[in-house]
Amino acid sequence: MSRPTQAIIDLEALRSNYRLADSLAPQSQSIAVVKANAYGHGAVPCAKALEPIVPAFAVASIDEAIELREGGIRKPILLLEGPFSFGEVQIASEHEFWLMIENHNHLAFIEQCEHKKLICKPLKCWLKMDSGMHRLGFMPFEIAAIYQKLKSTSIVHDEIVVATHFATADVEGDAFVKEQIDCFNEAISGLGCLTSLCNSAGVMAWPQAHGSWNRPGFMLYGASPFELPQHNDKTLQSVMTLQSKVISVRNVKKGEAVGYGKTWIAQRDSRIATVTVGYGDGYPRHAKNGTPILVNNQRCKLAGRVSMDMITVDVTDVGSVNIGDDVICWGKDLPINEVAHYSGTIGYELMTRMPLRPSRIYINA
Ligand SMILES: Cc1ncc(COP(=O)(O)O)c(C=O)c1O
Repeated sequence: MSRPTQAIIDLEALRSNYRLADSLAPQSQSIAVVKANAYGHGAVPCAKALEPIVPAFAVASIDEAIELREGGIRKPILLLEGPFSFGEVQIASEHEFWLMIENHNHLAFIEQCEHKKLICKPLKCWLKMDSGMHRLGFMPFEIAAIYQKLKSTSIVHDEIVVATHFATADVEGDAFVKEQIDCFNEAISGLGCLTSLCNSAGVMAWPQAHGSWNRPGFMLYGASPFELPQHNDKTLQSVMTLQSKVISVRNVKKGEAVGYGKTWIAQRDSRIATVTVGYGDGYPRHAKNGTPILVNNQRCKLAGRVSMDMITVDVTDVGSVNIGDDVICWGKDLPINEVAHYSGTIGYELMTRMPLRPSRIYINA
């Protein structure tokens, strides 16, 4: 038998979360964000599962888009960071990749392609505005002129989406989101353009910002983009279950320590189960003593430092635990955000840092 550490990926849960995102914004189209290997879930299998129900996908770069094309995905794919070179503009036109145009280099690449008559099919462009996050995009005062310029460029498709990204959409009612929305609306007023403002948090909490297109990512994988528990929406279904098994069990006496650095000291005579999952499998190295984990579907607590291949769990209070018993690190009954919280990070990071070591088992294809 091989090592039982696996990431089970429920593709029906993925589709259900996409349908939820789409239904929350009935006037918008929803582009499925599958960058960073579909947030660690496997880009091609996830895109294949979604393709019949989504109009388009979004990734960070052309390499991620090519991986999807080579995997058989035919729907349009938006490159969220735009082209990194002039050559990528040509590839984009051949493969129906949509380009986020967010700086003057991008405009120069397009001009070069037009000048050299290198593009056969019109390019679909999204135009990014910096409405306050100050990460990517043209300044609001530049948008109208650049929009008109792109529109009059012969190799650019007439339908241009003007997009922006929020800095604080995960903070309910945040005044800065309202400022960004106002800034965006003012800059595009009179253009009659298509729009896109919302990521997952925007889709869930900012209906007034739903645009022609929304861009949900994290929520598709079944976790809430909000830190506060009241937003951990039960209707989202966790897509990934990181599971493993107990490989050893022992008693330790009150006062004895467990694991590297002796960071966990038994406060009473205790029973410790060793589980074959560690930071080499994506379980966070910084998870604190007390991080919740399910052993035989019962909540237990991490006891001692996370090793590369193993963790140790206090199972004193959950009855008989034996070698071969089931362990769930995160999944349907244990939100990844909760584990992330105990590790000083966010669910986004745990998902996207999942290494390939635990095999991905796809269910409900
Ligand atoms: C421009 C853009 N849109 C959408 C998303 C998806 O965001 P989320 O995963 O929070 O839904 C991201 C993710 O970082 C992004 O950078």
